[in-house]
Amino acid sequence: MGKQRRERKREHYYRMAKRAGYRARSAFKLKQFNERYELLQSGNVVVDLGAAPGGWLQVAREEVGDEGFVLGVDLQKIAKLPYRNVKTLVADITDLSISELIRQNLPRPADVVLSDASPKISGVWSIDHARSIELADAAFAIACEVLSKGGKLLVKVFQGEFFQDFVQNVRKNFDHLKISKPPASRKGSSEVYVIANGFKRI
Ligand SMILES: C[S@@+](CC[C@H](N)C(=O)[O-])C[C@H]1O[C@@H](n2cnc3c(N)ncnc32)[C@H](O)[C@@H]1O
Repeated sequence: MGKQRRERKREHYYRMAKRAGYRARSAFKLKQFNERYELLQSGNVVVDLGAAPGGWLQVAREEVGDEGFVLGVDLQKIAKLPYRNVKTLVADITDLSISELIRQNLPRPADVVLSDASPKISGVWSIDHARSIELADAAFAIACEVLSKGGKLLVKVFQGEFFQDFVQNVRKNFDHLKISKPPASRKGSSEVYVIANGFKRI
């Protein structure tokens, strides 16, 4: 895709997000995943890792409705959303005690763990890949601690040499796994999303 077309696409999703009242263009990625893979259902408990500024939280809240619960975690403070069942925490998802903190803030084990967490981009491909894998590993470790049996995980990863090891690790713990890039993703970017369902809680 040429530079001009990429710009037009970014602008397109930016305008759509503004019109729909979403805080981030990335909201459309989650909407596209949800249409395709039926990730989020009414009444679900959802954990969203790397959630600022809150576009995915808004989409998740739409899907889980009044009966569900959504918890967002980010290094940055997330401006409050006007729902009693959306909570946010300022925390580092790579902290060793993070799963315990998340569990303490959930009404019950989670049905879905989402992670759109991204490292600060250095521009050096191997460094950005390694940092992305660190975040994806952290999201996977949290999912193993907070998901209920049969639960789902959606996690962003930048592709690179450690990608297949990460996928194999996740695959062992879930019944099904897919790798996908939503139309709202930039074509040139190395980001893909791993979607796993049927968590095998032992
Ligand atoms: C692409 S943004 C997420 C956008 C979000 N899905 C939305 O729709 O608004 C990535 C986020 O990951 C967060 N992040 C990066 N490293 C993190 C870490 N170690 N712990 C928690 N959040 C982290 C960043 O602060 C950033 O807000």
